[in-house]
Amino acid sequence: MFPHNVLPDTAEINDLGHLSIGGCDIVALTQEFGTPLYIFDEFTLRNRCQTFTKEFTSRYPNTTVAYASKAFVNPALAKIFAEEGLGLDVVSGGELALSQAIDFPSERIYFHGNNKSREELIQAVNSKVGRIVIDSFHEIALLEEISANAKTKQDVLIRVSPSVDPHTHSKTTTGTLDSKFGLSIDTGDAHRAVTAVTNAEHLNLRGLHFHLGSPIFELEPYELGIEVVLQFAASLREEGLELKEFSPGGGFAISYTREQVPPPIGTYAETIVNTMTQECERLGLELPHLTIEPGRAITGPAGVAVYKVGSTKNIEGVRKYISVDGGMGDNIRPALYEARYEAFVANRMNEKATETVTIAGKYCESGDILVKDVLLPPIGTDGLDLIAIPASGAYCLSMASNYNLNPKPPIVLVNNGSSHLIRRRETYKDQMLLDVL
Ligand code: LLP
Repeated sequence: MFPHNVLPDTAEINDLGHLSIGGCDIVALTQEFGTPLYIFDEFTLRNRCQTFTKEFTSRYPNTTVAYASKAFVNPALAKIFAEEGLGLDVVSGGELALSQAIDFPSERIYFHGNNKSREELIQAVNSKVGRIVIDSFHEIALLEEISANAKTKQDVLIRVSPSVDPHTHSKTTTGTLDSKFGLSIDTGDAHRAVTAVTNAEHLNLRGLHFHLGSPIFELEPYELGIEVVLQFAASLREEGLELKEFSPGGGFAISYTREQVPPPIGTYAETIVNTMTQECERLGLELPHLTIEPGRAITGPAGVAVYKVGSTKNIEGVRKYISVDGGMGDNIRPALYEARYEAFVANRMNEKATETVTIAGKYCESGDILVKDVLLPPIGTDGLDLIAIPASGAYCLSMASNYNLNPKPPIVLVNNGSSHLIRRRETYKDQMLLDVL
Protein backbone atom coordinates (compact mmCIF):
# COMPACT_ATOMS: atom_id res chain seq x y z
CA MET A 1 0.00 0.00 0.00
CA PHE A 2 1.23 3.50 -0.86
CA PRO A 3 2.26 5.09 2.45
CA HIS A 4 0.38 8.34 2.27
CA ASN A 5 0.93 9.06 5.93
CA VAL A 6 4.64 9.81 5.46
CA LEU A 7 4.55 11.41 2.01
CA PRO A 8 3.15 14.83 1.02
CA ASP A 9 -0.58 14.97 0.15
CA THR A 10 0.06 15.16 -3.58
CA ALA A 11 2.50 12.21 -3.77
CA GLU A 12 1.78 9.72 -6.55
CA ILE A 13 3.49 7.08 -8.57
CA ASN A 14 3.41 8.19 -12.21
CA ASP A 15 3.27 6.07 -15.40
CA LEU A 16 7.06 5.74 -15.41
CA GLY A 17 6.98 4.23 -11.92
CA HIS A 18 8.58 7.40 -10.52
CA LEU A 19 7.58 9.23 -7.39
CA SER A 20 5.82 12.45 -8.25
CA ILE A 21 5.04 15.33 -5.90
CA GLY A 22 2.91 18.35 -6.68
CA GLY A 23 2.50 16.94 -10.18
CA CYS A 24 6.29 16.98 -10.72
CA ASP A 25 8.31 13.87 -11.50
CA ILE A 26 11.10 13.60 -8.92
CA VAL A 27 13.52 12.10 -11.42
CA ALA A 28 12.97 15.05 -13.75
CA LEU A 29 13.43 17.49 -10.87
CA THR A 30 16.78 15.95 -9.97
CA GLN A 31 17.85 16.13 -13.62
CA GLU A 32 17.09 19.84 -13.57
CA PHE A 33 18.29 20.79 -10.08
CA GLY A 34 20.75 18.02 -9.16
CA THR A 35 21.03 16.11 -5.89
CA PRO A 36 20.81 16.28 -2.94
CA LEU A 37 17.56 18.17 -3.45
CA TYR A 38 14.88 19.24 -1.01
CA ILE A 39 11.37 19.41 -2.41
CA PHE A 40 8.52 21.22 -0.64
CA ASP A 41 4.94 20.59 -1.69
CA GLU A 42 2.98 23.84 -1.61
CA PHE A 43 -0.38 22.09 -1.42
CA THR A 44 0.64 20.17 1.72
CA LEU A 45 2.11 23.30 3.31
CA ARG A 46 -1.03 25.35 2.78
CA ASN A 47 -3.25 22.43 3.70
CA ARG A 48 -1.47 21.99 7.04
CA CYS A 49 -1.70 25.74 7.78
CA GLN A 50 -5.40 25.71 6.95
CA THR A 51 -6.09 22.54 8.89
CA PHE A 52 -4.48 23.92 12.05
CA THR A 53 -6.40 27.16 11.67
CA LYS A 54 -9.70 25.41 10.97
CA GLU A 55 -9.40 22.75 13.68
CA PHE A 56 -8.58 25.31 16.36
CA THR A 57 -10.72 28.29 15.35
CA SER A 58 -13.80 26.13 14.68
CA ARG A 59 -13.62 25.08 18.33
CA TYR A 60 -12.18 28.29 19.73
CA PRO A 61 -12.31 31.33 17.42
CA ASN A 62 -9.99 33.37 19.61
CA THR A 63 -6.89 31.44 18.46
CA THR A 64 -3.64 32.42 16.72
CA VAL A 65 -1.68 29.73 14.93
CA ALA A 66 1.95 30.89 14.95
CA TYR A 67 4.36 28.86 12.83
CA ALA A 68 7.56 27.98 14.71
CA SER A 69 10.24 29.19 12.29
CA LYS A 70 12.96 27.09 13.88
CA ALA A 71 11.46 24.04 12.15
CA PHE A 72 12.53 25.70 8.89
CA VAL A 73 11.84 28.97 7.21
CA ASN A 74 13.03 30.90 4.20
CA PRO A 75 11.51 33.94 2.52
CA ALA A 76 9.29 31.98 0.10
CA LEU A 77 7.87 29.85 2.90
CA ALA A 78 7.42 32.82 5.24
CA LYS A 79 5.35 34.52 2.53
CA ILE A 80 3.11 31.48 2.37
CA PHE A 81 2.63 31.56 6.14
CA ALA A 82 1.81 35.28 5.99
CA GLU A 83 -0.71 34.66 3.20
CA GLU A 84 -2.30 31.87 5.21
CA GLY A 85 -2.83 34.34 8.07
CA LEU A 86 -0.48 32.62 10.49
CA GLY A 87 1.62 34.26 13.18
CA LEU A 88 5.33 33.54 13.42
CA ASP A 89 7.39 32.29 16.35
CA VAL A 90 10.99 33.47 15.94
CA VAL A 91 13.93 32.65 18.19
CA SER A 92 16.79 34.78 16.92
CA GLY A 93 17.67 38.08 15.32
CA GLY A 94 18.19 36.10 12.11
CA GLU A 95 14.67 34.67 12.05
CA LEU A 96 13.32 38.09 12.94
CA ALA A 97 15.35 39.75 10.16
CA LEU A 98 13.97 37.24 7.67
CA SER A 99 10.42 38.01 8.73
CA GLN A 100 11.14 41.74 8.38
CA ALA A 101 12.66 41.22 4.94
CA ILE A 102 9.35 39.89 3.62
CA ASP A 103 7.27 42.38 5.63
CA PHE A 104 5.69 39.72 7.79
CA PRO A 105 3.11 41.59 9.90
CA SER A 106 5.15 42.39 13.02
CA GLU A 107 2.15 42.31 15.37
CA ARG A 108 1.82 38.59 14.59
CA ILE A 109 5.41 37.83 15.69
CA TYR A 110 6.28 36.06 18.94
CA PHE A 111 9.93 36.39 19.93
CA HIS A 112 11.20 33.44 21.97
CA GLY A 113 14.57 32.33 23.33
CA ASN A 114 16.26 31.51 26.61
CA ASN A 115 19.12 33.96 26.04
CA LYS A 116 18.09 36.76 23.75
CA SER A 117 20.89 39.27 23.42
CA ARG A 118 20.59 43.00 24.07
CA GLU A 119 20.91 43.59 20.32
CA GLU A 120 18.20 41.08 19.53
CA LEU A 121 15.83 42.60 22.08
CA ILE A 122 16.47 46.09 20.71
CA GLN A 123 15.80 44.75 17.20
CA ALA A 124 12.55 43.16 18.44
CA VAL A 125 11.32 46.25 20.29
CA ASN A 126 12.21 48.58 17.41
CA SER A 127 10.47 46.37 14.89
CA LYS A 128 7.39 46.32 17.12
CA VAL A 129 7.02 42.56 17.41
CA GLY A 130 3.66 41.57 18.84
CA ARG A 131 4.94 39.64 21.85
CA ILE A 132 8.26 38.96 23.50
CA VAL A 133 8.16 35.72 25.45
CA ILE A 134 10.25 36.27 28.57
CA ASP A 135 12.35 33.31 29.63
CA SER A 136 14.59 34.57 32.49
CA PHE A 137 15.08 37.23 35.18
CA HIS A 138 18.04 38.55 33.20
CA GLU A 139 15.69 39.23 30.31
CA ILE A 140 13.10 41.03 32.46
CA ALA A 141 15.69 43.60 33.57
CA LEU A 142 17.20 43.97 30.12
CA LEU A 143 13.88 44.32 28.32
CA GLU A 144 12.55 46.82 30.84
CA GLU A 145 15.62 48.99 30.24
CA ILE A 146 15.32 48.66 26.44
CA SER A 147 11.59 49.38 26.41
CA ALA A 148 12.10 52.40 28.68
CA ASN A 149 14.79 53.75 26.34
CA ALA A 150 12.48 53.21 23.37
CA LYS A 151 9.70 55.00 25.31
CA THR A 152 7.37 52.12 24.74
CA LYS A 153 5.47 49.53 26.73
CA GLN A 154 6.26 46.11 25.29
CA ASP A 155 3.61 43.37 25.35
CA VAL A 156 5.11 40.23 26.85
CA LEU A 157 4.25 36.70 27.88
CA ILE A 158 6.17 34.77 30.52
CA ARG A 159 7.35 31.30 29.58
CA VAL A 160 6.77 29.09 32.60
CA SER A 161 7.91 25.55 33.13
CA PRO A 162 5.21 23.24 34.53
CA SER A 163 7.44 20.20 35.30
CA VAL A 164 5.47 17.93 32.97
CA ASP A 165 7.27 15.22 31.01
CA PRO A 166 5.95 14.81 27.45
CA HIS A 167 7.74 11.45 26.97
CA THR A 168 9.79 12.40 23.97
CA HIS A 169 13.56 12.38 23.36
CA SER A 170 15.52 13.87 26.28
CA LYS A 171 17.24 16.33 23.94
CA THR A 172 13.90 17.75 22.84
CA THR A 173 12.19 17.81 26.24
CA THR A 174 11.72 21.34 27.56
CA GLY A 175 8.95 21.56 30.14
CA THR A 176 10.54 19.51 32.93
CA LEU A 177 12.23 20.99 36.00
CA ASP A 178 15.77 20.28 34.80
CA SER A 179 15.61 22.37 31.64
CA LYS A 180 17.31 25.56 30.51
CA PHE A 181 13.93 26.83 29.31
CA GLY A 182 11.23 28.62 31.21
CA LEU A 183 10.67 29.88 34.73
CA SER A 184 9.72 27.02 36.99
CA ILE A 185 6.37 27.05 38.74
CA ASP A 186 7.63 24.49 41.27
CA THR A 187 10.64 26.48 42.46
CA GLY A 188 8.71 29.75 42.77
CA ASP A 189 10.68 31.38 39.94
CA ALA A 190 7.56 31.74 37.81
CA HIS A 191 5.79 33.54 40.65
CA ARG A 192 8.77 35.87 41.19
CA ALA A 193 8.91 36.56 37.45
CA VAL A 194 5.22 37.52 37.37
CA THR A 195 5.80 39.95 40.24
CA ALA A 196 8.86 41.43 38.54
CA VAL A 197 7.10 41.88 35.21
CA THR A 198 3.94 43.38 36.69
CA ASN A 199 6.18 45.84 38.58
CA ALA A 200 8.13 46.75 35.43
CA GLU A 201 6.76 50.01 34.11
CA HIS A 202 7.55 49.38 30.46
CA LEU A 203 6.38 45.78 30.23
CA ASN A 204 2.78 44.80 29.72
CA LEU A 205 2.15 41.25 30.90
CA ARG A 206 -0.44 39.70 28.59
CA GLY A 207 -0.27 36.11 29.80
CA LEU A 208 1.61 32.85 30.08
CA HIS A 209 3.30 30.44 27.74
CA PHE A 210 4.70 26.95 28.12
CA HIS A 211 6.15 24.40 25.74
CA LEU A 212 6.68 20.81 26.81
CA GLY A 213 8.89 19.40 24.07
CA SER A 214 8.68 17.89 20.64
CA PRO A 215 7.39 15.69 19.07
CA ILE A 216 4.63 14.81 21.52
CA PHE A 217 2.59 11.77 20.50
CA GLU A 218 0.45 11.72 23.66
CA LEU A 219 -2.42 14.02 24.56
CA GLU A 220 -2.14 13.69 28.32
CA PRO A 221 0.97 15.88 28.70
CA TYR A 222 -0.94 18.76 27.09
CA GLU A 223 -3.84 18.22 29.50
CA LEU A 224 -1.51 18.12 32.49
CA GLY A 225 0.51 21.12 31.37
CA ILE A 226 -2.59 23.22 30.78
CA GLU A 227 -4.01 22.25 34.19
CA VAL A 228 -0.79 23.12 36.01
CA VAL A 229 -0.29 26.46 34.27
CA LEU A 230 -3.92 27.57 34.59
CA GLN A 231 -3.92 26.61 38.26
CA PHE A 232 -0.81 28.75 38.64
CA ALA A 233 -2.52 31.64 36.81
CA ALA A 234 -5.54 31.38 39.11
CA SER A 235 -3.31 31.43 42.19
CA LEU A 236 -1.78 34.73 41.05
CA ARG A 237 -4.97 36.59 40.20
CA GLU A 238 -4.83 38.51 43.47
CA GLU A 239 -1.31 39.62 42.64
CA GLY A 240 -2.30 41.33 39.46
CA LEU A 241 -1.82 38.55 36.91
CA GLU A 242 -4.55 38.93 34.34
CA LEU A 243 -4.41 36.00 31.96
CA LYS A 244 -5.44 37.61 28.70
CA GLU A 245 -3.36 35.25 26.60
CA PHE A 246 -2.30 31.66 26.96
CA SER A 247 -0.09 29.36 24.91
CA PRO A 248 0.68 25.67 25.30
CA GLY A 249 3.39 25.99 22.60
CA GLY A 250 3.87 23.45 19.83
CA GLY A 251 5.16 19.89 19.72
CA PHE A 252 2.53 18.26 17.49
CA ALA A 253 3.85 15.01 16.09
CA ILE A 254 3.96 13.70 12.53
CA SER A 255 4.46 10.28 10.91
CA TYR A 256 8.13 9.74 10.17
CA THR A 257 7.54 6.04 9.55
CA ARG A 258 4.49 4.15 8.32
CA GLU A 259 3.92 2.69 11.78
CA GLN A 260 3.98 6.04 13.56
CA VAL A 261 0.48 7.44 13.79
CA PRO A 262 0.19 10.68 15.78
CA PRO A 263 -3.19 12.03 16.88
CA PRO A 264 -4.95 13.98 14.11
CA ILE A 265 -4.62 17.77 14.36
CA GLY A 266 -8.31 17.92 15.28
CA THR A 267 -7.70 15.68 18.28
CA TYR A 268 -4.88 17.89 19.57
CA ALA A 269 -7.22 20.87 19.07
CA GLU A 270 -10.09 19.14 20.87
CA THR A 271 -7.86 18.23 23.82
CA ILE A 272 -6.25 21.65 24.16
CA VAL A 273 -9.43 23.66 23.72
CA ASN A 274 -11.54 21.42 25.98
CA THR A 275 -8.95 21.29 28.75
CA MET A 276 -8.37 25.02 28.63
CA THR A 277 -12.04 26.00 28.60
CA GLN A 278 -13.01 23.51 31.31
CA GLU A 279 -10.14 24.53 33.58
CA CYS A 280 -10.84 28.23 33.08
CA GLU A 281 -14.45 27.66 34.00
CA ARG A 282 -13.53 25.58 37.05
CA LEU A 283 -11.03 28.17 38.25
CA GLY A 284 -13.20 31.17 37.44
CA LEU A 285 -10.72 32.55 34.88
CA GLU A 286 -11.82 34.59 31.88
CA LEU A 287 -11.26 32.71 28.63
CA PRO A 288 -7.90 33.91 27.22
CA HIS A 289 -6.67 34.32 23.67
CA LEU A 290 -5.07 31.01 22.68
CA THR A 291 -1.83 30.77 20.69
CA ILE A 292 -0.40 27.52 19.41
CA GLU A 293 3.00 27.17 17.80
CA PRO A 294 3.23 24.22 15.41
CA GLY A 295 6.51 23.93 13.52
CA ARG A 296 7.22 20.32 12.59
CA ALA A 297 3.56 19.50 11.91
CA ILE A 298 3.36 22.19 9.21
CA THR A 299 6.60 21.91 7.26
CA GLY A 300 7.62 18.34 8.19
CA PRO A 301 5.19 16.39 6.01
CA ALA A 302 5.55 18.85 3.10
CA GLY A 303 9.26 18.18 2.57
CA VAL A 304 11.04 15.32 0.81
CA ALA A 305 14.81 14.98 0.55
CA VAL A 306 16.17 13.29 -2.56
CA TYR A 307 19.65 11.85 -2.83
CA LYS A 308 21.59 9.96 -5.50
CA VAL A 309 23.09 6.59 -4.67
CA GLY A 310 26.84 6.29 -5.18
CA SER A 311 28.92 3.54 -3.65
CA THR A 312 27.57 0.47 -1.93
CA LYS A 313 29.36 -1.81 0.49
CA ASN A 314 28.20 -5.27 1.39
CA ILE A 315 29.66 -6.82 4.55
CA GLU A 316 28.53 -10.41 4.20
CA GLY A 317 26.35 -11.46 7.11
CA VAL A 318 26.63 -8.04 8.73
CA ARG A 319 25.13 -5.17 6.75
CA LYS A 320 24.83 -3.61 3.33
CA TYR A 321 25.61 0.10 3.17
CA ILE A 322 24.14 2.25 0.43
CA SER A 323 25.88 5.62 0.37
CA VAL A 324 24.14 8.73 -0.88
CA ASP A 325 25.40 12.20 -1.78
CA GLY A 326 23.99 13.97 1.31
CA GLY A 327 23.74 12.98 4.96
CA MET A 328 24.28 14.51 8.36
CA GLY A 329 25.10 17.93 6.88
CA ASP A 330 21.52 18.29 5.63
CA ASN A 331 19.81 15.98 8.13
CA ILE A 332 21.48 15.51 11.49
CA ARG A 333 18.34 14.18 13.19
CA PRO A 334 19.17 10.45 12.96
CA ALA A 335 22.64 11.10 14.41
CA LEU A 336 21.38 13.46 17.11
CA TYR A 337 18.11 11.88 18.21
CA GLU A 338 18.19 8.35 16.74
CA ALA A 339 15.35 9.62 14.55
CA ARG A 340 13.82 7.04 12.19
CA TYR A 341 12.78 7.76 8.61
CA GLU A 342 11.26 5.86 5.70
CA ALA A 343 13.09 5.66 2.39
CA PHE A 344 11.93 5.02 -1.16
CA VAL A 345 13.74 4.36 -4.41
CA ALA A 346 12.12 7.30 -6.19
CA ASN A 347 12.83 6.07 -9.73
CA ARG A 348 11.53 2.53 -9.15
CA MET A 349 8.50 2.94 -6.92
CA ASN A 350 6.63 -0.11 -8.21
CA GLU A 351 9.44 -2.59 -7.59
CA LYS A 352 9.20 -5.03 -4.76
CA ALA A 353 11.25 -4.33 -1.65
CA THR A 354 13.40 -7.40 -1.03
CA GLU A 355 16.63 -6.24 0.53
CA THR A 356 17.36 -4.74 3.94
CA VAL A 357 19.99 -2.02 3.63
CA THR A 358 21.38 0.89 5.61
CA ILE A 359 21.48 4.30 3.95
CA ALA A 360 24.66 6.14 4.82
CA GLY A 361 25.64 9.71 4.10
CA LYS A 362 28.88 10.96 2.57
CA TYR A 363 30.27 12.71 5.65
CA CYS A 364 33.47 11.58 7.34
CA GLU A 365 31.83 10.16 10.39
CA SER A 366 30.57 6.64 11.17
CA GLY A 367 27.47 8.12 12.79
CA ASP A 368 26.45 9.62 9.46
CA ILE A 369 23.63 7.17 8.84
CA LEU A 370 20.33 8.44 7.44
CA VAL A 371 18.22 5.28 7.69
CA LYS A 372 19.30 2.09 9.41
CA ASP A 373 17.90 -1.26 8.25
CA VAL A 374 15.28 -0.32 5.71
CA LEU A 375 13.66 -2.73 3.26
CA LEU A 376 14.14 -1.52 -0.35
CA PRO A 377 14.13 -2.91 -3.89
CA PRO A 378 17.66 -4.02 -4.86
CA ILE A 379 19.76 -0.91 -5.48
CA GLY A 380 21.64 -0.68 -8.77
CA THR A 381 25.30 0.20 -9.15
CA ASP A 382 24.67 2.32 -12.26
CA GLY A 383 24.48 5.57 -10.27
CA LEU A 384 20.90 6.16 -11.40
CA ASP A 385 18.99 5.22 -8.29
CA LEU A 386 17.48 7.99 -6.23
CA ILE A 387 16.61 7.68 -2.56
CA ALA A 388 13.71 9.83 -1.37
CA ILE A 389 13.35 10.42 2.35
CA PRO A 390 9.95 11.85 3.26
CA ALA A 391 8.94 13.91 6.30
CA SER A 392 12.13 15.94 5.82
CA GLY A 393 10.62 19.41 5.79
CA ALA A 394 11.22 20.23 9.46
CA TYR A 395 14.47 20.47 11.45
CA CYS A 396 16.63 19.13 8.61
CA LEU A 397 17.57 22.24 6.65
CA SER A 398 17.18 24.50 9.67
CA MET A 399 19.89 22.47 11.43
CA ALA A 400 22.00 21.95 8.30
CA SER A 401 25.74 22.55 8.41
CA ASN A 402 28.68 22.80 6.07
CA TYR A 403 30.48 19.91 7.72
CA ASN A 404 33.33 18.71 5.50
CA LEU A 405 32.60 21.85 3.45
CA ASN A 406 29.80 20.17 1.58
CA PRO A 407 27.49 22.79 0.06
CA LYS A 408 23.94 22.98 1.38
CA PRO A 409 21.28 21.63 -0.99
CA PRO A 410 18.83 23.67 -3.04
CA ILE A 411 15.08 23.78 -2.39
CA VAL A 412 12.34 23.49 -4.95
CA LEU A 413 8.71 24.38 -4.29
CA VAL A 414 6.33 22.28 -6.36
CA ASN A 415 2.65 22.84 -7.11
CA ASN A 416 0.23 21.73 -9.82
CA GLY A 417 2.94 20.42 -12.12
CA SER A 418 5.26 23.42 -11.85
CA SER A 419 8.43 23.84 -9.85
CA HIS A 420 10.18 26.93 -8.51
CA LEU A 421 13.65 27.10 -7.08
CA ILE A 422 13.24 28.87 -3.73
CA ARG A 423 16.86 28.42 -2.67
CA ARG A 424 19.72 27.75 -5.05
CA ARG A 425 22.43 25.23 -4.33
CA GLU A 426 25.30 26.64 -2.30
CA THR A 427 28.58 26.86 -4.21
CA TYR A 428 32.15 26.40 -3.01
CA LYS A 429 32.59 30.12 -3.59
CA ASP A 430 29.60 30.89 -1.32
CA GLN A 431 31.27 28.87 1.39
CA MET A 432 34.44 30.94 1.24
CA LEU A 433 32.75 34.34 0.99
CA LEU A 434 33.05 35.07 4.69
CA ASP A 435 36.64 33.97 5.08
CA VAL A 436 39.46 36.46 5.16
CA LEU A 437 43.00 35.58 4.15
N1 LLP B 1 7.31 26.64 20.53
C1 LLP B 1 8.43 26.59 21.25
C2 LLP B 1 8.60 27.52 22.36
C3 LLP B 1 9.44 25.66 20.94
O1 LLP B 1 10.55 25.62 21.67
C4 LLP B 1 9.26 24.79 19.84
C5 LLP B 1 10.28 23.81 19.48
C6 LLP B 1 8.07 24.89 19.10
C7 LLP B 1 7.12 25.83 19.48
C8 LLP B 1 7.80 24.06 17.90
O2 LLP B 1 7.75 22.70 18.15
P1 LLP B 1 7.22 21.73 17.00
O3 LLP B 1 5.78 22.07 16.77
O4 LLP B 1 8.04 21.97 15.79
O5 LLP B 1 7.39 20.37 17.52
N2 LLP B 1 15.37 19.95 16.59
C9 LLP B 1 14.39 19.07 17.21
C10 LLP B 1 13.17 19.83 17.66
C11 LLP B 1 13.47 20.97 18.58
C12 LLP B 1 12.22 21.74 18.94
C13 LLP B 1 12.57 22.99 19.65
N3 LLP B 1 11.43 23.76 20.02
C14 LLP B 1 14.03 17.97 16.22
O6 LLP B 1 14.60 17.91 15.14
O7 LLP B 1 13.22 17.12 16.54
